Amino acid sequence: MADKAILQVGDKKIELPIIEGVDGSKAIDISQLLAQTGLTSYDPSLGNTAICKSAITYIDGDKGILRYRGIPIEQFTAQPKPNFVEAAWLLIFGRLPNKAELAEFRQQLIDNELLHEGIKDQFQHIPADAPPMAILSATMNNLACFHKQFLEVEKPEGLVAAAARLISKVRTIAAFSYRRSRGLPFIYPDPGLRYCANFLHMMFSLPYKQYIVTPEIEDALNMIFILHADHEQNCSTSAVRVVGSARANLFASCAAGVSALWGPLHGGANVEVINMLERIYQGGISPEQCIRDAKDKNNSFRLFGFGHRVYRNFDPRAKILKESCDRVLAKMHRQDPLLDIARRLEELALSDPYFVERKLYPNVDFYSGILLRAIGIPTNMFTVCFAIGRLPGWIAQWKEQHDDTSSKILRPRQVYIGAQVTDYVPMEQR
Ligand code: SDX
Repeated sequence: MADKAILQVGDKKIELPIIEGVDGSKAIDISQLLAQTGLTSYDPSLGNTAICKSAITYIDGDKGILRYRGIPIEQFTAQPKPNFVEAAWLLIFGRLPNKAELAEFRQQLIDNELLHEGIKDQFQHIPADAPPMAILSATMNNLACFHKQFLEVEKPEGLVAAAARLISKVRTIAAFSYRRSRGLPFIYPDPGLRYCANFLHMMFSLPYKQYIVTPEIEDALNMIFILHADHEQNCSTSAVRVVGSARANLFASCAAGVSALWGPLHGGANVEVINMLERIYQGGISPEQCIRDAKDKNNSFRLFGFGHRVYRNFDPRAKILKESCDRVLAKMHRQDPLLDIARRLEELALSDPYFVERKLYPNVDFYSGILLRAIGIPTNMFTVCFAIGRLPGWIAQWKEQHDDTSSKILRPRQVYIGAQVTDYVPMEQR
């Protein structure tokens, strides 16, 4: 393919450079389009637009490929699998940590797992039925009030310290929001527990009875967090980049990511999937009716957990999660009728021309909720768990943009379709 594109506007012809990714994918560089033609481009969902060059995560939507810093996602779930903290370090710093680096990062997470008592006290004034994602976004921003030294993250060591605080404290914030919602006393983190086990301890232990984390549950949560850790320029990551491009601090930028992830078309889909499966199971609608509703343009219903902006094949994470559901439920000697319904929906959809023609396959959210349920996570905490997993990816993407001295504030343009010039009309003349 040529290394430039020719654009003809009226009798003017301009050349636009074509840049190439390491996978051979190409992009037309239009960064000089407005200067050269006086025209902007129009791509409202940004589905045709690369907003950055990134070395963190690679996705091939047609082949169903996902790699973190080049390592295929499947290798994170096969033995000897890395744990979530190791995957977080890889995403943020660009390579696998050596033993000393991993031990030091783990120690930083331990040293920063407590919340400032001032933040803890604030939970008492939050309504018990407050949405956990609202609490997470607000409290993540609130961290900046108690750790002012990390508002300035120009120094590399400041970024590592801020990242460690966020990755460690996000569990405590999440667990405390759950305990508050149930009127339970807060359980403080236990420095002797690994990352995921500590989160489950804070969620489910009682003052008089330690929650015993079984290996299969710890393993399942570790895998869920890793599978959600990054996904290139998805909606919430782009929100983190937009906020971070204004040189806003890491806490504020990641709080914006939490807010975007909350949407039911994005991270909130894992809650909608379980609600959909529950409705079917409780007899509200049948799988067949669900499929019909999803295809009916006059029906706003969507088959949650299906479809993806990038994957036009199976989401590799969905495959791994589907296999894990079987394994974890079997190890726990449990069955979940919702899994059978999910399988039936998948079977119906994958053989239905509507879904096949539109290349709609199960995405990461279709099976993740069933696994989270098996672990005992309440439905309203599913998207919070997605955010805990995605946090290292947001930090990595924020750091990559922050370290790129050529990066500028993200400020898209528009096509104006409003009123022509007009005059103000005084109230007495309206
Ligand atoms: C995540 O971007 C990421 O990487 C996100 C994520 C990550 O890790 O960060 O992977 C996590 O957000 C996964 C997606 C979770 N969301 C859902 O499961 C919600 C249900 N899915 C859809 O809303 C939809 O598929 C999206 C939002 C995921 C993608 O939407 P697109 O690419 O904008 O697709 P579209 O809306 O343009 O749909 C194309 C066609 C339309 O039909 P036609 O107009 O061509 O007739 O497919 C139809 C849509 O109506 N369609 C669906 C559908 N998804 C798309 N029809 C029924 N059910 C669905 N789920």
